Amino acid sequence: MKRPFKLDSRLNLCASFVRKGVKVADIGTDHAYLPVWLCKKGIAISALACDIGQEPLQNALNTIYKYNAENLVETRLCNGLAKVNDNEAQDIIIAGMGGETIAEIIDAWQFAKNKDKHFILQPMTKSDELVNFLYKSGFEIIEQRCCKERKIYTVMLVTYTGNIQNVSKEFTYLGKLSPKENPLDREFLQMEIRNLENKAKGNKEYEIVAENLKKEL
Ligand SMILES: C[S@@+](CC[C@H](N)C(=O)[O-])C[C@H]1O[C@@H](n2cnc3c(N)ncnc32)[C@H](O)[C@@H]1O
Repeated sequence: MKRPFKLDSRLNLCASFVRKGVKVADIGTDHAYLPVWLCKKGIAISALACDIGQEPLQNALNTIYKYNAENLVETRLCNGLAKVNDNEAQDIIIAGMGGETIAEIIDAWQFAKNKDKHFILQPMTKSDELVNFLYKSGFEIIEQRCCKERKIYTVMLVTYTGNIQNVSKEFTYLGKLSPKENPLDREFLQMEIRNLENKAKGNKEYEIVAENLKKEL
């Protein structure tokens, strides 16, 4: 039997947020590295590896067979969480997609508004849109951290609280990061500010947000 592989730092940060002894669903799983690793390490008791694409799901099956995880990890061909039932996942990972796609997936799942569920979210782009959606839908970021793997990434641990909030534009970029205390958080925010400045090109609103965010560095 093959020994479990090492995760890269981005997937490792996602994994660090998963609670011990839970059932996991990994949405947009591609190679199913996270669900196989989490089950083989004894962190998750079972996992669903879900993807919208046939080819990524075949990649997932190859990893599952390679590491003899057939009894632990099940694959599902579906859009978002469309084929995941309430009792099948307590911790849901959605990593490596745009923030707007992650928001759509959570919004479409009828079981998402449940205080016992944890969402582990790693947006590749538009994390501000995701944060705005989360707060106006009654979700909250419990914890947020960053990691570096060539590029800088952020991962959010999120749950439903029922508390609907209109957050400021600045907060949608800053979230629960602590750029004054943590160099990686600082680097992530600096990247967000650069993106905002590139996007601004005379747009006063973006310019003001970028200036306000610089005060957080
Ligand atoms: C870049 S890969 C990310 C793989 C892995 N989660 C990671 O972070 O390394 C994105 C995957 O998400 C899948 N995907 C995109 N939209 C999806 C959706 N609405 N529902 C399920 N899977 C989706 C794609 O088919 C692709 O396999």
